[in-house]
Amino acid sequence: MSILVTGGAGYIASHTSVLLLKEGHDIVIFDNFCNSSSESIRRVESITDKKITAIEGDIRNRDDLIKVFDKYDIDSVIHFAGLKAVGESVDIPLKYYDYNLSGTITLCQVMKEYNCKSIVFSSSATVYGDPHTTPIKENFPTTATNPYGRTKLFIEEMLRDIFISDNEWKIVLLRYFNPVGAHISGTIGEDPQGIPNNLMPFVAQTAVGKREYLNIFGDDYDTPDGTGVRDYIHVMDLAQGHVDAIEKINSFDNVMTINLGTGNGYSVLDMVRAFEDASGRNVPYKIVQRRDGDIATCFADPSYAKEILGWEAKRSIREMCEDGWRWQSNNPNGYNNGEDKK
Ligand code: NAD
Ligand code: WQD
Repeated sequence: MSILVTGGAGYIASHTSVLLLKEGHDIVIFDNFCNSSSESIRRVESITDKKITAIEGDIRNRDDLIKVFDKYDIDSVIHFAGLKAVGESVDIPLKYYDYNLSGTITLCQVMKEYNCKSIVFSSSATVYGDPHTTPIKENFPTTATNPYGRTKLFIEEMLRDIFISDNEWKIVLLRYFNPVGAHISGTIGEDPQGIPNNLMPFVAQTAVGKREYLNIFGDDYDTPDGTGVRDYIHVMDLAQGHVDAIEKINSFDNVMTINLGTGNGYSVLDMVRAFEDASGRNVPYKIVQRRDGDIATCFADPSYAKEILGWEAKRSIREMCEDGWRWQSNNPNGYNNGEDKK
């Protein structure tokens, strides 16, 4: 089976590609490298000892996609490509609607033209907004508090409409909680450009000495230690969820919406301490004001993923931090050593 991996050079897709290749799937990576480096693809090749077909192109560009579907017999798409910075999406919403929504529309149009009707989509726990209770089940109400989250919600709805119009489509919506960590080799990992928005890359850069201290956004939440609680999930566990989804996709007769989380909530301070233990480094921090739009607590009920996919997260917080640290300390400047991306 040939799988098109959009956004294939990115953080989650590169880890997923390792497992797809190890399971013997043929993949075609498609990325415009707007937030990644082709070096990640070279490193996936080196981990798996396989040659990867990688195409530079933009999901918003019909011709780029047609070239791929013309040349390769694509059975399924795992659709990671998109922009993901919540704060930036508030400042430049049109760019987010363009990349995420228009990009997905163009992708689905081309898929339909080539009779490729199988897609796994990267959705997000952000679609639950501020949940009324935790753990969060897939049937909880959805909402969005920022343009990024709205693009995910709209794409989910659009994919459901596509299925209603044509039941031949096979669609899995994977709602990720907070992906962290890296492949155990320490050769691929998360490589944010500029100042990291997310907690764990910021913690890792502080531990390695690139940042002086971490700002902890609020210690007055209604949580055990006052800092925000999230469901951090090892990126390799997340990657396995994609392999399980794509391998079972043909057995589904409805759109499947599935949480990928561990079911455990850890606070910011828990994560800082765990990272300090795993790295042997100090992570100095200051408590500052809450960040706009943040919620107190968010963690998954992952039981549906177990029931439907036979999947569950296996890796501990310790492994998330050890593997994240191995990547960060071996690659203090990410993939590009301070040079241009790509
Ligand atoms: P990432 O930025 O590392 O990967 C996204 C990839 O898509 C990048 O390689 C980027 O260059 C590529 N891309 C972006 N726009 C493109 C376009 N128009 N055409 C072709 N390629 C394009 O991000 P990630 O963390 O690996 O996230 C992957 C997906 O998972 C995204 O859709 C994201 O919204 C979603 N997601 C991420 C998280 C998270 O915390 N990392 C959580 C929930 C959902
Ligand atoms: C985690 C905790 C912060 C940074 C975001 C998106 C979500 C999804 C995952 C894509 C919170 C605290 C953070 C820092 C801190 N992405 N924090 N100092 O906000 O749960 O989710 O990424 O879909 O849509 O919103 O993740 O890693 O930014 O924050 O104190 O410098 O760490 O307040 O409690 P979040 P995060």
